[in-house]
This record gives sequence, C-alpha cells and structure tokens, in this order.
Amino acid sequence: MNVGIIGIGTYVPENIITNEHFESYLDTSDEWITKMTGIKTRRFADDDMDTSDMAVIATQKAIEDAGIQKEAIDLIITATSSGNHTFPSVSCIIQEKLGLNPVPAMDQLAACSGFIYSLITAEQFVKSGTCKNVLVVGSEKLSKITDLNDRNTAMLFGDGAAAVVVSEVSEGKGFIAHEWGSDGSGGQYLFDNVETGYINMNGREVFKFAVRIMGDISTKVVEKANLTADEIDMFIPHQANIRIMEASRERLGIPKEKMSVTIDQYGNTSAASIPLSIMHELKNGKIKDGSKLVLVGFGGGLTYAGMTMVWGK
Ligand code: ACO
Repeated sequence: MNVGIIGIGTYVPENIITNEHFESYLDTSDEWITKMTGIKTRRFADDDMDTSDMAVIATQKAIEDAGIQKEAIDLIITATSSGNHTFPSVSCIIQEKLGLNPVPAMDQLAACSGFIYSLITAEQFVKSGTCKNVLVVGSEKLSKITDLNDRNTAMLFGDGAAAVVVSEVSEGKGFIAHEWGSDGSGGQYLFDNVETGYINMNGREVFKFAVRIMGDISTKVVEKANLTADEIDMFIPHQANIRIMEASRERLGIPKEKMSVTIDQYGNTSAASIPLSIMHELKNGKIKDGSKLVLVGFGGGLTYAGMTMVWGK
C-alpha cells in the first residue's frame, strides 16, 4: 500500500514582526539577524489566539483540500511544543472544536522534528489498516515560550500552523523512505526552562549538531529511496537557520533553486515549518503532482527525522 498526503491547509497570524522591532530594544541589528539566521520577519499570534486556534483553522482547510468529510478522520496527531496545556492536548481541542468523531487524539512531542515524526507515525497506522485518514497537524505559538528580552533567542522564533491528511494514495505516490532518531545527550542544549517557561538554547552546540545530522539524514533518505540527488525536485529542510539549511543542501548536492526557503518570512516555527514550506512551494508552482521531495528536520530532544516522498494522491 502507498501512503501519502491527500490534503494540506495552513495558517499564519497577520501580525508581522520585523527585525527592526528587536533593534528598537535589544542590542542587535537587522544586519546581524539577516546574516546569521536568514530571518527578516516572523509572525506573532495575538493574545486571544492560542496554538489550538491556529491548528483548527489549518485543519479545516486541510480537510477541505483533501475532499473528504470530517467524519472520515479516524486519528488526530498534533506535533507541538507549545500546546495550550500539557493536557488537554491540542489534538483533543481540535476534535472538540471541529466536531470530529470521538477518535483517538494525541500530541507528539519531538520539537522541530515533530511534523516528520507524526507523518511517520501516521503512515504506520494507515499501512497496518488500523486507520484510513489520519489528521497530522504542526502548530506552534512559540512567541509565548520565547523570552523576548533574551537576544540569544528572541528573534529566532515565529508562530504558525499547518495540517495534512495522511491516507492511502495511488501507485508511485506518497512516502518512500524515512530515517528518524534521537540523541538525548544533547537535550541540555535546547530545552524549555521549567522555572521561566522559556526556551533555553546553546546556539553553538545546536548549530553543530544540526549541520551534521541534517546532512547525514537527507543523504541517507535519498539513498534508501534508491534515488540520486539530481532526481529530487525540492528539498524542504526545517527552517531554523539559513546557514544550517545551506550546509545540508550543499552536502546533499542540490542546487539552490531546489531548496525551499521560508525562514526569511516566518522565522523558526518548529513543527509547522516544513508543512508551511510545502504550502509555499505548492503556491509558487515548485511542487507539482509527482514532484519528488526530501523533508528533513532536527529539534529539541535532541531529535531528528527525514523522509523522501512523491507529492500527490
Ligand atoms: N545580535 C547581535 N549580535 C549577537 C546576537 C544578536 N542577537 N547574538 C549574539 N551576537 C554576537 C555575540 O555577542 C558574538 O559577538 P563577538 O564575536 O563579538 O563575541 C557573536 O555574535 C557570536 O555569538 P554566538 O552566540 O557565538 O553566535 P552564533 O554564531 O552561535 O550564532 C545563532 C547564534 C544564530 C543563534 C546560531 O548559534 C544558531 O543559529 N544556532 C542554531 C539555532 C537553532 O537552529 N536552534 C534550533 C531552534 S529550536 C528548535 O528547532 C526546536
């Protein structure tokens, strides 16, 4: 059986925060942020919009795009590190707000690798015949867990959401190969501080890990799929830092125009960054029916995951 994505929907808040905003009160500059991270703007959700509200909007669009009835969803998985609460999960809130059937609903906590982790999880349920249509959501309101007075992290993160429906697809489409894993010894470099509630990061250490693992995993999933780099139509890395993305693109041997870049607009939206990038490339025509994609991410945990897939149903 081939399993893939049959529908996608996204949401980003309207409020655009520029680098100049941080210049106005922190010892930083637009020039430094742009050069060191690739970020120009990010979106921050208003106080009355939480992670689940963004997730619900993205989910409605994804179900519509999939062309299925909401009653056909039989499992909900949300990748998030910034849920409204630890419990109820964002997935349970989506189930209630959209009036979905009383299906299993759970959040997956693998930080920025969460979306790919959730795709891989969903694939297993569809392949085994346990489920037919799994809703996979990546939604983050990182602005609420970022210390906006800490110049090490304040300018890096943004808010946004994306949802997809994972189901059986036709021959030649869907997920081909994946790699996923963790290295708990690096957990100390990226964590939410329970006392402050804010993200704490050793940027240098995370950077070193990310450059190594993003390159390793993307090459591995291409090999595992029996493909070569020139057969890949679009490389969609987790949008954490343009320099990390560039290093992995070069390692994989893919030209610049085949790498999706949305970090300039959205910053790092963690579990939402990969599907937001997919939507961006669908809109500008770079991903079409039959396009071969490499998705790859890393995040707190530390975790990592990559996947090759053919777009379309
Ligand atoms: N503005 C201006 N200057 C700054 C800033 C700032 N915001 N922050 C640091 N600097 C200066 C420092 O003072 C230092 O100056 P010096 O050389 O005169 O001493 C210089 O820049 C280098 O400082 P570092 O902290 O060593 O900067 P680094 O090169 O590591 O870059 C960055 C920082 C961009 C955060 C980088 O480490 C990085 O991107 N790391 C990975 C981040 C990441 O991907 N995180 C994952 C996100 S979380 C997740 O995915 C769940």
